[in-house]
Amino acid sequence: MDHFTYKNGRMFAEDVALADIAKQVGTPFYVYSSATLTRHYKVFADALAGLDALVCFAVKANSNQAVIRTLAKLGAGADVVSGGELTRALQAGVKPGNIVFSGVGKSDGEIRMALRAGIKQINVESEPELDRISTIATEMGTVAPVALRVNPDVDAHTHEKISTGKLENKFGIEWTRVHEVYTKAAKLPGIEARGLAMHIGSQLLDLQPFRDAYVRAGDLVAMLRADGLSVEVLDIGGGLGIPYGETDETIAPSPDQYAQVVRDTLSGLDVELVLEPGRMIVGNAGILVSRVVYVKEGATRTFLIVDAGMNDLIRPTLYGAYHAIVPEREPVKGATLIDVDIVGPICETGDTFAKGRRLPHVNAGDLLVMRTAGAYGAVQSSTYNTRALVPEVMVNDSQFAIVRERLEVEDIIALDRLPDWLE
Ligand code: LLP
Repeated sequence: MDHFTYKNGRMFAEDVALADIAKQVGTPFYVYSSATLTRHYKVFADALAGLDALVCFAVKANSNQAVIRTLAKLGAGADVVSGGELTRALQAGVKPGNIVFSGVGKSDGEIRMALRAGIKQINVESEPELDRISTIATEMGTVAPVALRVNPDVDAHTHEKISTGKLENKFGIEWTRVHEVYTKAAKLPGIEARGLAMHIGSQLLDLQPFRDAYVRAGDLVAMLRADGLSVEVLDIGGGLGIPYGETDETIAPSPDQYAQVVRDTLSGLDVELVLEPGRMIVGNAGILVSRVVYVKEGATRTFLIVDAGMNDLIRPTLYGAYHAIVPEREPVKGATLIDVDIVGPICETGDTFAKGRRLPHVNAGDLLVMRTAGAYGAVQSSTYNTRALVPEVMVNDSQFAIVRERLEVEDIIALDRLPDWLE
């Protein structure tokens, strides 16, 4: 459930008319709903009630500090994957003790930063990384709390570009080698081996892969403990899928159904669980609003050319992702629907948000709303075609605020430098 609904024929974000935001900030722009964010976080956290569990929001899904802070105020920690995300999480008010650091290529600088900040744990993705952390922590005279990320070799049944738990993926340590590497970690100077971590992929609509992976994780914990090794934390990643629109054939499992899998597989284990949901918390809490620039009657189809491009929302181009797209003006009941392709202004055929959508007639100048754009939307934007980065707006009841300014074209161009020989 979200808080983007029609009222008196126009779309509102909570109690703010999108048309009013458009008037003030121009188009395109992202809008996030505080009420939806809060609701999603609570539904997820409540589903885990009774378990010893820390929810660390995967900041990569949406790194806006207003989003992070909204969640931190509700008690969320953060899962970060770069020094930049770590800085954002800290600045947004997440307690260092509630931050985990994942990612396969942490630099020395990032490792130092994490150790200086005193975060909860670093999720280690390989043996060379483990050695590097040991060296750096020893140099710094400190001890690094780490979890070993396990690659459980489970097929997540999701898009290949967002699957992470198969042996051929670059993530984690093969589960068959975890015992050996954990034993080594337990002895290494500067390392405190605290537990295991895993994340098998994103937008999972089938719970079975979670079940398989968590059973494997539970077995590994038992095996390590049987050898006298201490395992206090088990980070089970994110990945729960969400509905993207009316054509989703599979219904996304509910947080309660997902939590039941966690209980079934891990509740007797006596570990602190860490969960890293991203999309589930923020996906449906955000939309991208754009304006129709032209309605072009092509030879074989009608194109709605909008002022947002693939640089603003890359998901349809990159993963063939479906986003529901609706007019900001509520369609009148019984209105004739026509087939349209919704495309951006960028000079690539891939700059297509949707093909063959049934929409009521819209005119140039009308606003269109791309739904479920709160996760992996703004964070994956670029300035391709020297386009401004669009602003992000947060709504809270009847108030709204710009939570990221538009990055203007002049600011982008001002970063260019001409070398001496071209002056
Ligand atoms: N933890 C780790 C270690 C991750 O790599 C990810 C996502 C998450 C947690 C959060 O997963 P979520 O709960 O959001 O599914 N750009 C793609 C998604 C990439 C996901 C990468 N990792 C998209 O737009 O679909």
